[in-house]
Amino acid sequence: MIAIGCDHSAIELKNNIIQHLAEQNIPVKDFGTYTKEACDYPDIAEVVCTAINSGECDKGILICGTGIGISMSANKIHGIRAALCHDYFSAKYTRMHNDSNIIALGARVIGSGLACELVDVFLNTAFEGGRHATRVQKMMDLENL
Ligand code: RB5
Repeated sequence: MIAIGCDHSAIELKNNIIQHLAEQNIPVKDFGTYTKEACDYPDIAEVVCTAINSGECDKGILICGTGIGISMSANKIHGIRAALCHDYFSAKYTRMHNDSNIIALGARVIGSGLACELVDVFLNTAFEGGRHATRVQKMMDLENL
């Protein structure tokens, strides 16, 4: 199950991604926001990250205007590794090397076509483990500082 959430700046892109995932029969749960009324991106990050940490969802997609505020918010939450990706290489390698569990996107930065391609490669790329597992563990240990 994939969790998705966005703020008011990204409703259209979120809906396009939901449709794109539905066409591939990938189950997705939409955590809002659902209207263009202004909302606060940390609130959306919180509900999506909670769904991942509880095991309700496996990975997440978070979208705001730049992708920055919502990814920064998500990365404040224990267990979350959110990667802001606007290029194919980063979306692929953040899975392979960082075992990211959220991809963050900026709806005011990229178009729907590229966003869907980034989501696809993010969801279809496995973590390599090995030396990267050691580094990811060290990264997560930083949560205890
Ligand atoms: C909302 O106007 C905007 O600030 C937000 O979507 C995001 O870009 C913040 O990082």
